[in-house]
Amino acid sequence: MHQTTRLIRLAASSVAVLLLAPPGAVGLNVAQPTFVEDVAPILHANCVSCHQPDEIGPMSLRTYREVRPWARSIARAVENRDMPPWDADPGYGPWLNDISLNDDEIAAITRWAANGAPRGEGDEPVYEQPEAAGEWTFGEPDWVFEFDPWEVAPEGPDEFRDVLITTGFEEDRWIRAIEVQPGDRKVLHHFILWRAAEGASYQESWMAAWTAGAKPYRFPAGSARLLQKGRKMIGDFHYHPRGEAATDTTRIGLWFAEPEEVAKELVTLPIWNAGINIPAGDPNYEAEASRVLEEDVLLHAFTPHMHYRGKTMFFSAELPDGSTRDLLGVSRYDFNWQTTYQLSEPIRLPAGTRVRVKASFDNSAGNPSNPDPTVDVKWGLESTDEMLNGLVDYVAADSDDSGQAADSTGASGR
Ligand code: HEC
Repeated sequence: MHQTTRLIRLAASSVAVLLLAPPGAVGLNVAQPTFVEDVAPILHANCVSCHQPDEIGPMSLRTYREVRPWARSIARAVENRDMPPWDADPGYGPWLNDISLNDDEIAAITRWAANGAPRGEGDEPVYEQPEAAGEWTFGEPDWVFEFDPWEVAPEGPDEFRDVLITTGFEEDRWIRAIEVQPGDRKVLHHFILWRAAEGASYQESWMAAWTAGAKPYRFPAGSARLLQKGRKMIGDFHYHPRGEAATDTTRIGLWFAEPEEVAKELVTLPIWNAGINIPAGDPNYEAEASRVLEEDVLLHAFTPHMHYRGKTMFFSAELPDGSTRDLLGVSRYDFNWQTTYQLSEPIRLPAGTRVRVKASFDNSAGNPSNPDPTVDVKWGLESTDEMLNGLVDYVAADSDDSGQAADSTGASGR
């Protein structure tokens, strides 16, 4: 689906180019790109959600005036695939929420910068804000929770906090969509909503995550997450000081489904290994975890979850017939971006399939995000501890459900 949108977008942005370009030229003008024709549409579609005033990106990238001084660092960031933040390796998916640039888009930006970042003729395309802040994407939610305001100091290390949420729901609730509205997007780096373990206050199962630029998540049609009556939730905040004092009052909105509307529970299967013990200084500690599916499933999404020393994570499936299938590779994991990779089309896997998660960690001084390379690190809830947790979203499959063919090996392209 995303591919189609992108094709349409490229087609639209190239109409004007076609009028000027020699006959036969299609798509982006990779040879002589200009800001107006080629670069602005790419930035508007992939960067400005974060790079605008009051968003987490350090500079605004809407207009030529704003972008021009950054041309070379933009070229470097896209060429290295540091930006936009999207850690999935190419060749998996396709993904509903893919924000990565394709090779032509990268080539257009780097060539444009190398050519002196020309503006081009005509009016600049104007960035259109997709939705006004403060409004809810799917209409008024059925339940809104506002966290108490939290002061974030202007300077200092990143702050983490967990807040327990008592819902007071008197019956089980089926949740079909969740939206997180960050109070201050300049300081809230990411937020994860968990279900608390029953009768306890530790994070047990994943419900939703928000990172800068993320869109609200509506669960696949006919599916919903179950929150049992009396079950608490935990809001897990990561704040990044931005040089000035800030107060964050984040809200979450839930939309409920009637039980009879829910065909399937959206289950998040955590595939984790709590036995990790990463030696101080080790640049490549490897460990894995796996779980066997007890029923036929349609896989919808993957969320690799590690902390600062997390380096790579690979998801694969070993089917009962002995065949294997690569599902997702993340060879440059970055703790800053808690991305859920949502498949455009679910992958069907039969009961008995083993889903395997292989991870590696860098606990050396060569890892710039390592808070302390001199200590051994074990599993733990603090972000300075580590986790090896590969989360897999699925719904139970009926015999007539299709999906991407399970025996295909084409997904990884390698
Ligand atoms: C999801 C939010 C997000 C998106 C989307 C995003 N950025 Fe960024 N960008 C950031 C943040 C946050 C930083 C600050 C560094 C960091 O935390 O990684 C950053 C840093 C940068 C920098 C380095 C700035 C410096 O100080 O040197 C450049 C250049 C950049 N982004 C360009 C882009 C471009 C070009 C795109 C689109 C192709 C893009 N970004 C998309 C969030 C985003």
